[in-house]
Amino acid sequence: MSHPVLDKLGLAAIESGSYIGNGEWSKTTDAGVLEPVNPTTGEVLGKVHASSKADYDTLMERAEANFKVWRKTPAPKRGEAIRLCADALRKHKDALGSLVALEMGKSKPEGDGEVQEMIDIGEFAVGLSRQLYGLTMHSERPGHRMYEQWHPIGIVGVISAFNFPVAVWAWNSFIAAVCGDITVWKPSPKTPLSAIASMKICNEALREGGFPDIFFLFNDAGTELAQEFVDDKRVALVSFTGSTKVGRTVGERVARRMGRSLLELGGNNAIIVDETADLKLAIPAIVFGAVGTCGQRCTSTRRLIVHESVYDDVLSKLIAAYGQVEGKIGDPTDPKNLVGPLNSSDAVDAFLDAIAQAKAAGGKIEIGGTAVEGKGFFVKPAIVTGLTNEADVVQHETFAPILYVMKYSDIDQAIDMQNAVPQGLSSSIFTTNLKRAEAFLAAWGSDCGIANVNIGTSGAEIGGAFGGEKETGGGRESGSDAWKAYMRRQTNTINYSDALPLAQGIKFDL
Ligand code: UN1
Repeated sequence: MSHPVLDKLGLAAIESGSYIGNGEWSKTTDAGVLEPVNPTTGEVLGKVHASSKADYDTLMERAEANFKVWRKTPAPKRGEAIRLCADALRKHKDALGSLVALEMGKSKPEGDGEVQEMIDIGEFAVGLSRQLYGLTMHSERPGHRMYEQWHPIGIVGVISAFNFPVAVWAWNSFIAAVCGDITVWKPSPKTPLSAIASMKICNEALREGGFPDIFFLFNDAGTELAQEFVDDKRVALVSFTGSTKVGRTVGERVARRMGRSLLELGGNNAIIVDETADLKLAIPAIVFGAVGTCGQRCTSTRRLIVHESVYDDVLSKLIAAYGQVEGKIGDPTDPKNLVGPLNSSDAVDAFLDAIAQAKAAGGKIEIGGTAVEGKGFFVKPAIVTGLTNEADVVQHETFAPILYVMKYSDIDQAIDMQNAVPQGLSSSIFTTNLKRAEAFLAAWGSDCGIANVNIGTSGAEIGGAFGGEKETGGGRESGSDAWKAYMRRQTNTINYSDALPLAQGIKFDL
């Protein structure tokens, strides 16, 4: 492997996609090869030897053994381990951010932002390591104490997507680590280098600090190992980020073996703009939400629901802004560009396919909607009008920069439209009317896991719980009390009296 960024991260010597513990990267060379492609040029960035069944068995055995040690380590001490990871990531932020930009295709500031998200969740986890609180309850029986405590669950399996190739792992693994769990990671086959780099940075910091291996990594050339992983009873929790289609299968398979799953699946996120909205805020928020990361966030803005009285104004301002963006599409590692490529040629095909479907359904392409000639997987972000919310293509998440703009006349109708899709991840309203903002956030308002006022649908902070309802899968990760998914709750009742009263006043006299 050779690229200045890879050299900077010391990856040139690592050709293995499996971190199997004890400081060892697997030497297996016969389990297939992953060839991540630079989406800017279409050229192969490097070769990564995929993991074998033997690698998988070794790392799972070591993960199980290390869990026995890690669960006995006090939680604040586990927090110290994560502090070292966050410090190491801070040191390597620039290089890792560049690698994420290079391999995934997001802009350099967004690549750096993703590493910042890892650092932030690391710091959150350090604080959390002293705050894994359980409740104390009043027992109905005299001389009895009742409380609950949270224990580690074991091995957490993380299956992550290409679009956030490193941050989603950190959301899961750093929280899981302070909870006392061991994380085994299977990253997207499209972004193995970013995963290897993150693993190397964190694991070296842990080893230098004298901590055991708490993070393991394998890369699958096909889907066989991934399927074994999902079905593996040793994996207490499978945290999956990806499409609804694959997520449904993962959820079903994990449920069959009575395991736990945490699903972060598709979104079909909308912004409502009412007639009182401050367009100086709304327009840039919509543009960032729709074209940022080239429309490849699960929180990307895909639908815009605009009050009829400001519709023409909003549309013309958006078209002008998209015109400016078109001049800033290009190599994401060049800081002057705002929009990089899609991640693969398949994604370009899906984008063109959706545009064709939109046209066939009577939609009008106001701007963009074509692939950019030349090397790489670049497209021109599209604005589509003239379709109803019920149109098939509008109901479906296309992981690309396509914004469907629709009109409404009454706020209840707008909220109904926002909710009338199978997915339920993120949503926003732009309004200066307090009653409308509160109605949007009320129990009868947005049905999404994330609902914002006067900010866009994407770019959530790590402090809140992240995830969504309906076909988004219901999982919550990152901040708030999402840590509870990584622990098991135990209710304890202790009798310190000389009698044995039964609950509910039941008499059982021998
Ligand atoms: C994702 O797209 O899978 O809220 C995660 C956001 C980011 C995370 C997105 N913080 O857009």
